[in-house]
Amino acid sequence: MKSRSLLSALSLEPQDIPPIWLMRQAGRYLPEYQKIRQNFKNFLDMIKKPDICAELAMQPINRFDLDASILFSDILTIPSALGLGLEFGEGHGPVFSKPISSTEDIQRLPTEVPHEELNYVYEAVLATRKVLPSNIPLIGFCGSPWTLAAYSIEGKGSKDFHKTKKFITNYPKEVTELLNTLTQACFEYLKEQVKCGVEALQIFDSWADILSLQDFQNLSLNPTQKLVELLRKDKLTSEIPIILFEKAPPRDLTELDLKNITCLSLHWSQNLVMTSERFYGIKALQGNLDPSILKNSDEEIEQAIQYILNSMHGYPGFIFNLGHGITPDIEPSKVQLMIDLVRGN
Ligand code: CP3
Repeated sequence: MKSRSLLSALSLEPQDIPPIWLMRQAGRYLPEYQKIRQNFKNFLDMIKKPDICAELAMQPINRFDLDASILFSDILTIPSALGLGLEFGEGHGPVFSKPISSTEDIQRLPTEVPHEELNYVYEAVLATRKVLPSNIPLIGFCGSPWTLAAYSIEGKGSKDFHKTKKFITNYPKEVTELLNTLTQACFEYLKEQVKCGVEALQIFDSWADILSLQDFQNLSLNPTQKLVELLRKDKLTSEIPIILFEKAPPRDLTELDLKNITCLSLHWSQNLVMTSERFYGIKALQGNLDPSILKNSDEEIEQAIQYILNSMHGYPGFIFNLGHGITPDIEPSKVQLMIDLVRGN
């Protein structure tokens, strides 16, 4: 049988076929997801049910025979547990009813991560690991400290993140404090996920793109590297593969060391060829098909996939993925086509 193992690829072992999984592989583009989702008014109520999370994580595995499963949860569970009042309303993205608006709001945050408030996530890991075939690895995840800080300050998604940018200019010291709190919380959160059975971790820096070059280093990369160091220093997580997704970062990743990060998950705007030349034999690479290409004709999809496969042929540690999360307007049949093309079926 031809090899296509995510964990082996993360160890830079050459695979016969690139392992494939998809960012946001469980979600609204799947009719079987919609069927379960309609039973819950609120997304947050749904992710608090471990057995439902396990079932949702299994859906794309059952349908597409993907090479990895990702925990079904969300990156906003940590700010929610810190008391910011997370709401997933109908028809719009997540909103915090009590965002961070003053320096007092930062001082008021619990200094210890309230694990009891996050127990539902750890239960979801246990429930998923129970139903997932043993040869399919489970990926745990969190948002980067920066992305969580930006969401906590802005209170919701935004085009220009004006409130956040004003806050980081006016209160640099307090923002550092907030990032430290979130870094520690992410560390303990990921460690607990590992304890419950996840075999790889992905950190989502989904709002890297709103920062200037200087702020990207100080507010995003430095706290993320600190989180990685905490994981590497802990006996339980010292060997766990760590995947980092930077969404359209203002700095070219090839200029960076990104110490102790096992794999870079490339945004679709990034140059896969240049990145693969820089990190050959050093890091695994994951990516990076623009998800919107899956709305095109089969021929166009095939062309884009062939380009990636040709570029990465012979790269030890290549994992096929999208260059950002799959969107609800994509046909599952196009996803099947992509997987067949990657596997040469
Ligand atoms: O298979 C999976 O990846 C499912 C697990 C998962 C979800 N969110 C479920 C979800 C993961 C890994 C995430 C990560 C996440 N959440 C990110 C980072 C990845 C990225 O896309 O950059 C971010 C920024 C969030 C925050 C978030 N959660 C937003 C902005 C939204 C609303 C818009 C959207 O993308 O749907 C959510 C809600 C959410 N999280 C849904 C799902 C399946 C849709 C909820 C619904 O059914 O109404």
